[in-house]
Amino acid sequence: MDEKKRIFSAIQPTGMMTLGNYAGAIQNWVKMQDEYECIYAVADLHAITVRQVPADFRKNAMQLMAILLACGIDPDKSLLFFQSHVHQHAELAWILNCYTQMGELSRMTQFKDKSAKHANNINAGLFTYPALMAADILLYQADLVPVGEDQKQHLELCRDIAGRFNGIYGDVLKVPEPYIPKVGARIMSLQNPTSKMSKSDTNVNGYILLTDETDTIIRKFKRAVTDSDAKVEFKEGKDGINNLISIYVAATGKTVEETVKEFDGKGYGDFKLAVGEAVADMLAPVTKKYNDLLANKDYLMQVYTKSAEIAEKIAMRTMRKVYKKIGFTEK
Ligand code: TRP
Repeated sequence: MDEKKRIFSAIQPTGMMTLGNYAGAIQNWVKMQDEYECIYAVADLHAITVRQVPADFRKNAMQLMAILLACGIDPDKSLLFFQSHVHQHAELAWILNCYTQMGELSRMTQFKDKSAKHANNINAGLFTYPALMAADILLYQADLVPVGEDQKQHLELCRDIAGRFNGIYGDVLKVPEPYIPKVGARIMSLQNPTSKMSKSDTNVNGYILLTDETDTIIRKFKRAVTDSDAKVEFKEGKDGINNLISIYVAATGKTVEETVKEFDGKGYGDFKLAVGEAVADMLAPVTKKYNDLLANKDYLMQVYTKSAEIAEKIAMRTMRKVYKKIGFTEK
């Protein structure tokens, strides 16, 4: 009946999203809703691979739920729930752990990076994180997974695990394809435009949070690092300006060419102000909706509960097959 291809994606609740997350991923999540059957999760199980303070963690997770809805994830079109609410994620993860090799997990660059960063807490969950991610995707028999550069290796491993499982038991799990969005800006730090915009940046002027106030946004753009050419053009080596152009494009829907033409002969001061204003205009309704949603916990609960119920039904179908194929005794 439903011919649409299925997409699965998830995002970790690690504090307020940046403009980079929004323009790089979430804008695409929103767009994909019409063409695909989308299943989105707040990856709270993944988040505990790093120690969390319970009260902050709970708050962050709910805020992420609210901001995703505020950005335009539509619960009438897509599923949006907390990963921990659908217990099959953890169950399938255990099973897939038994079909994943230590060697494969040791080669994951994110594991190497994260264990260097959290040297005092290199837990087994951090190591087997990709098996949980594979479970997320394979539970729903997703056709496509939109992934950024940092998650490509994990998706590749997911495909290997699914292929291995199918090799033993027959066609049980759909092997997902990476989804490469047609557009999707890679937004860089405003202060150091050769590195990705990230809220772990020590300089707060490097990133824009989706909840930043208009004057904060404008101020941060005014301080953005540029160059000394004083010419708004998209060109190799002009990292700061290229980044500002990409942001302007993401915020206004204009093309790079239109943008370059618009600011021909104008100074960087004018350009930076225009980018700041465009971003502030784009985010103002998002922030407003976000605040309204956070004040309406009942509505949020209704959305994530209903989504999780539907997700669980799909997940159960996969689990039944998996259990049977493995040879567990039937209940
Ligand atoms: N690991 C991803 C990240 O940190 C989040 C994630 C969890 C995910 N499960 C997923 C992404 C499944 C895509 C598909 O960004």
